[in-house]
Amino acid sequence: MESENDYDEFAAAYSEDNESNAWNALYERPASLALAGNVAGLRVLDAGCGAGAHAAALIAKGAQVTGIDKSPALVAIAKNRLGPHVRLEQADLNARLAFEDGSFELVIASLVMHYLQDWYPALTEFRRVLVPGGRVVMSTHHPFMDHVLAQGSNYFETYEFADQWKKGGRTIRTRYWHRPLHAMVDALTEAGFAIEAISEPQPLPQARDLFPEAYETLRTKPRFIFFAARTPKSAAALKT
Ligand SMILES: C[S@@+](CC[C@H](N)C(=O)[O-])C[C@H]1O[C@@H](n2cnc3c(N)ncnc32)[C@H](O)[C@@H]1O
Repeated sequence: MESENDYDEFAAAYSEDNESNAWNALYERPASLALAGNVAGLRVLDAGCGAGAHAAALIAKGAQVTGIDKSPALVAIAKNRLGPHVRLEQADLNARLAFEDGSFELVIASLVMHYLQDWYPALTEFRRVLVPGGRVVMSTHHPFMDHVLAQGSNYFETYEFADQWKKGGRTIRTRYWHRPLHAMVDALTEAGFAIEAISEPQPLPQARDLFPEAYETLRTKPRFIFFAARTPKSAAALKT
C-alpha cells in the first residue's frame, strides 16, 4: 500500500506541478507573498518549504531565506534549485527547531499547518525564533472547504480526515487536520501572536484564461485561508 503524507514518494511530480498550476502559482503563492510584503534584507524562515518555490521568490526580493521541511526529497529538490548558499534542512514542525531565539524577522508557513494535529508547538517555536515584533504569514486549508471535503459531522471539532489526489497516473494519499476558524485564531493568540490580517484572496486574473475550471472554483469557493500575525515588540512580553 502507498503510504500517506509521504512527499518523498512523489516529490518530483509535486514540485513540477506546484511550479505552474492555478492553486499554487496563481493563487496561494501570490497571496502569501503579498502578505509578506517588503522582505528586502529580512531573515526569513520558510517552514514547510517544499521544493523551494516561495524561498526562490523571497530571495529574488532580497530576503535571506532558510528553509525547513519534513521531506528529505523535497529538501533535496530545493537545494538543487537554490544552491549551496541557502540553508535548507530536514525538520519536523512538531519538534523544537534548531535555531536560536530571535533568528528571523519573518516566518512563512505555506500549506503546511493542516498536517499538524496541534498548532501550539509549531506556533510557539515560530514565536521563539522570531525577533520581537517579527511576523508570521501562514496559509492553510480553509476550514469551510475541508469540512465539506471531509463530509465531517461536526464543524466545531478538530479532526483528521483522508484525501487523495491523482498525479502523473498515481494516487497520492494524504491526511489532513480540519480545525474550525476559532481554533486557528485561538492557537495564534495563545502562542503570543497578534493577528494583523485574515485573508480570503482571489486567484490572479490570468488564471481565468489559463485554467478556466480552477479559476471558477477558486473565484467562488473558499479553498485556503491566510493569516498574518505579529509577536509583541517587547521581549519581556514574550515570556510565557
Ligand atoms: C502542500 S506542501 C506545501 C509546500 C510549500 N510550502 C508550498 O506551499 O509550495 C506541504 C509541505 O509540508 C511539509 N510537511 C508536512 N508535515 C510537516 C511537518 N510535520 N514538518 C515539516 N514539514 C512538513 C511536506 O513535506 C510538504 O513539503
